[in-house]
Amino acid sequence: LKLNLNYSGIQESQLDNMKEMVRAAQQMLESGTGAGNDFIGWVHLPDQFDMALMDRIEACASRLREKCDVLVVVGIGGSYLGTRAVSEALRDPMEHIRRFCSRENPVILYAGHHLEERYMENLLGALDDLEVCVNVISKSGTTTEPAIAFRMLKSYMENRYGAEGAKERIVATTDKARGALRTLADEQGYETFVIEDDIGGRYSVLTPVGLLPLAISGVDVRALLEGAKAAYMEYLNPELSDNQCFRYAAARTILQDQGKVVEILANYDPSLQYISEWWKQLYGESEGKDGRGIFPASVQFSTDLHSMGQYIQDGRRMIFETVLLVTDLEGSLKVTEDQQDLDGLNFLAGKSLREINFKAFEGTLLAHVAGGTPNLVIELEKLDAYHLGQLLYFFEKACGISGYLLGVNPFDQPGVEAYKKNMFALLGKPGYEAHRQTLEAALKRL
Ligand code: PA5
Repeated sequence: LKLNLNYSGIQESQLDNMKEMVRAAQQMLESGTGAGNDFIGWVHLPDQFDMALMDRIEACASRLREKCDVLVVVGIGGSYLGTRAVSEALRDPMEHIRRFCSRENPVILYAGHHLEERYMENLLGALDDLEVCVNVISKSGTTTEPAIAFRMLKSYMENRYGAEGAKERIVATTDKARGALRTLADEQGYETFVIEDDIGGRYSVLTPVGLLPLAISGVDVRALLEGAKAAYMEYLNPELSDNQCFRYAAARTILQDQGKVVEILANYDPSLQYISEWWKQLYGESEGKDGRGIFPASVQFSTDLHSMGQYIQDGRRMIFETVLLVTDLEGSLKVTEDQQDLDGLNFLAGKSLREINFKAFEGTLLAHVAGGTPNLVIELEKLDAYHLGQLLYFFEKACGISGYLLGVNPFDQPGVEAYKKNMFALLGKPGYEAHRQTLEAALKRL
């Protein structure tokens, strides 16, 4: 993985000025002396991963792979986005069509990541024709969205497979001792995996939260972890000039200080859409607090060049772009010569789609930089499990460093409680009566 800052407008001397601050942030993160230090179990995880746990994950994965066409992953936020990011980046984009021909790898469907009814109805309806397993994931074990979805799926599974059959097909990933899901899983006798106390949801993709469903769907999770470990080793380097991860954290800090308060993660491959969703959660939830933080947004190019491209080129100058670029240009799908050339595209004959996509990247980079949008470019050699493992750890560590540079605790999320309190009160949860009255009065204008 390489970070190219040549189009960011940032001078090496500006980065140099941040050397001491970055070193202090590194020290806090690696030795656990900074804010939120009870949630940094992910920092050394790739190096200290318990391989007996990996064996258990793989054993459980092959047991469930035998049984199912689909795996329903029930979870929200950090409990599902890492899985979806890696899974969608690596899967065949036409899998939903091909799976009727071969069922080599179970397909992942998602539930519990919102409250919309038609989706859930359609999901439950679609399961009837398929063999189903469920992995319910919640660290706290009390989050409303996945808890409601799991209540419905549990009853679906029991009606369909009987209590014993359902037990064989449901796995719970949760806290080792606390929470409603732990109690339920123990009582029902589900196989369980533990999310350690010191790893928060959005930093948990390399734990059983992500590794189990990914292994069930056929991802090489050992390669994912190896990539993360290579990144772990590389980013221990205290030299800012040689550490791509720290340079990314420092660069976004410099740009934020210049008024660039929106960072857009752009890619040229629709498979990376959920890498961007995962990244937005990681940075938004880690840095957006105390009235501070860069707003993380994302676009898919070249699709969004025909929509958001206008704003990025020409709108308010508060944006910088980070382009996630897969540099493997070996493409075999080429544009063919056409005798009539009515579309005037014969000048492209013989060029692969990858080459054309790369030129779209180069052209856009220069246009956006000329329009006043600095660009950082993260180059990923290949889109495979190993390189994605590197990328995930790169973003996680840079986020910890960047949060410390900003002066916030990058490992808590106090702001997500406000909506929950209101929702419980409005739904009539016992104990919230007084708050309900206040809210209902405030809602009179709806
Ligand atoms: O990063 C986080 O901590 C959150 O996004 C959580 O992952 C999310 O709220 C889900 O929580 P839980 O796993 O406890 O159900």
